[in-house]
Amino acid sequence: MKHLISTADLTRAEAIQILDIAEEMRAFGTREVKKLPALRGRTVVNLFFEDSTRTRISFEAAAKRLSADVINFSAKGSSVSKGESLKDTAQTLLAIGADAVVIRHPDSGAPARLAATDWIGLPIVNAGDGMHEHPTQALLDAFTLRRQICLREGSSPHGKGLDGLKVAIVGDILHSRVARSNLWLLNTLGAEVTMVAPPTLLPVGAASWPCTISYNLDEVIASGTDALMMLRVQGERMNAAFFPNPREYSRYWGLDDARLTTLDASGDETLIMHPGPMNRGLEISSAAADSPRSTVLDQVTNGVAVRMASLYMLLSGDLIKES
Ligand code: NCD
Repeated sequence: MKHLISTADLTRAEAIQILDIAEEMRAFGTREVKKLPALRGRTVVNLFFEDSTRTRISFEAAAKRLSADVINFSAKGSSVSKGESLKDTAQTLLAIGADAVVIRHPDSGAPARLAATDWIGLPIVNAGDGMHEHPTQALLDAFTLRRQICLREGSSPHGKGLDGLKVAIVGDILHSRVARSNLWLLNTLGAEVTMVAPPTLLPVGAASWPCTISYNLDEVIASGTDALMMLRVQGERMNAAFFPNPREYSRYWGLDDARLTTLDASGDETLIMHPGPMNRGLEISSAAADSPRSTVLDQVTNGVAVRMASLYMLLSGDLIKES
């Protein structure tokens, strides 16, 4: 693996390897001393051209736990706001001595461009590009699912995919890089995906995706799913009215209190997932977000482990030695 740009680039074996290494990393994260020396002396640059809370902090924590030095760069307040090009910014980072670049960018394709050109020649990790992909989010979602199901069964997650699991991805699919990255990865790992959305929030071409499309959340819940992945309604990417009003959205597409009650009454062990940040009361009610089924905070914890595994695989071929 040279870069991590899209989950569509990962083979099943590579994806499972990242999840397995992340299991080891997660175990380190529960120790009192959380540091591993694996990337000592290496420098990871977090290049964020778009707002982020958890993803940037998560990558920072991941790099630091591997003993790498971290440089955080955000476009606001930098020379990018003076019009500096991506190429000049990237080459400046190289001159500073970066060993890997984690990039979030509002334009779909910016990380792929950095990886494809000879501007810097460093491993690139896509931390979210426009409406395109967010591969580490999909990996942490798959990791969380696999771990939860194995904990329930009392089995070891190592070496396993997500074969036969039913996962529904619900909401603003049109604007969601999380949905796209999850779709490819869940397929690679053997899960069955249903996309649930209003017709206005599905992209043209979704019919050819490897998933079932549904416009009815209640039917999908009634048919039984292992996980409901709720997506944030991405107001900042909407330049038109995609649904009549917030009340109507949560009535039809939100995981509201009534649907949570239905889930609880069904006896199904359906997990409730959300990548954050949540619009409580819109795509997910507070009761659903805070319910015992919710994996929201677990996803955040697991994100650090998955990002440690990703950086480790990109930057070091060495076996992990316990310090
Ligand atoms: C997602 C993102 O930025 O794409 N959030 C995240 O990385 N935790 C999803 C979102 O913003 O809705």
